[in-house]
Amino acid sequence: MRSQLLDRYPSVADLRNRARRQIPFFAWEYLDSGTGRDDGAERNTDSMRKVTLTPRFMRGEMTAETETELFGQKYAAPFGVAPVGLTGLMWPEAENILAKAAAKFRIPYSLSTVATQSPETIGPLADGMGWFQLYPPRDPGVRRDLLDRVKAAGFTTLLVTADVPTGSTRERQRRAGVTVPPKMTPLMIYRCMVRPEWSLATLMAGSPRFKGVAKYASGADLQNMTAFIGTGLGGTLDWKYLEELRNEWDGPIVIKGIMSAADAKDALSFGAEGIGVSNHGARQCDGTPAAIDVLPGIAEMIDGRASIIFDSGIRTGLDICRALALGADFVLCGRAFMYGVAALGQRGGEHVADMLMTDFANNMVQLGCRNVAELRETYGDKGLPVLK
Ligand SMILES: Cc1cc2nc3c(=O)[nH]c(=O)nc-3n(C[C@H](O)[C@H](O)[C@H](O)COP(=O)(O)O)c2cc1C
Repeated sequence: MRSQLLDRYPSVADLRNRARRQIPFFAWEYLDSGTGRDDGAERNTDSMRKVTLTPRFMRGEMTAETETELFGQKYAAPFGVAPVGLTGLMWPEAENILAKAAAKFRIPYSLSTVATQSPETIGPLADGMGWFQLYPPRDPGVRRDLLDRVKAAGFTTLLVTADVPTGSTRERQRRAGVTVPPKMTPLMIYRCMVRPEWSLATLMAGSPRFKGVAKYASGADLQNMTAFIGTGLGGTLDWKYLEELRNEWDGPIVIKGIMSAADAKDALSFGAEGIGVSNHGARQCDGTPAAIDVLPGIAEMIDGRASIIFDSGIRTGLDICRALALGADFVLCGRAFMYGVAALGQRGGEHVADMLMTDFANNMVQLGCRNVAELRETYGDKGLPVLK
């Protein structure tokens, strides 16, 4: 079964192709798009592919030790699942599938504030592997309540998203008619009908709702919840807000969406345990540099004083090696996991974890690195081995 799947879909690119044929056009456009002309999204993956790593040989028998420690916790590998909102639109109960896969593979699963399952449902499924992503609530009472719930549900690490000061245009999503609540035009109905597996699974699970924040909206219907998300979350973040947050969350805080050494420096002064180098998969501003291109400069400035959690553009195990070699301590993958679930439903999360794990370990050996520390220490910012 495992080898059959690996033979049929040996890469994220294969899953992406299948996902496009499995889910309705509007869900596909929501998942796959960046913003603007999608130049930034292309830049993320193009720049990633340009990073070369020169291998070292003659190192005797090698097996890759992928285990990594981050914030005092052991993970089977230095990668995990990035937070993705409106998840159930792409596949019903995608969060459950991914949290279970993360628990099985002992890698982190990050639940978005605007996911379609609640922290109470997902925390136990993630079995200690849960991280929570916060879009900062404006109301301090809501913030405290949400953080209490997240902690009680077993989430260990808080990702605070800095890079959504306001909504972005998302032209592809607009053209495809992505709205919440959905407008059920004849075209949308047709697009659902030609994707029967998705439609049946969605009918059985019920249409997606923002279950994590439903209790804070004035009504439980999608219209009210969407209004709450629009006005009650985000757009407020500054260092003072983070100080308040620090008093309410006693676990590690990662500030996600840092793209400049200047912001990284401020995050360090604030005392963040983690710096999330990311451009949100280029879904916010089409003009930012590729995240991988700013990583070495930020890593140089941080110089080991906080952990660097990198995302944006990771599609292969080799890409994980690339990011670690250029200074990341840990890597998150957004679309890669979602393509897997959209393509293969229940089997998708485990398949992507398995595939990335295998490809990562293989490339470590190809490069002559026995463990993650060697991978991080061997390369300079040009991807060349540093000769000691
Ligand atoms: C469909 C989709 C929804 C996302 N929703 C969120 C979200 O709710 N919160 C957040 O911090 N990031 C969100 N992101 C950004 C991811 O966490 C991550 O930064 C991005 O996907 C990384 O790029 P990659 O897709 O190339 O791996 C979303 C990304 C995608 C593709």
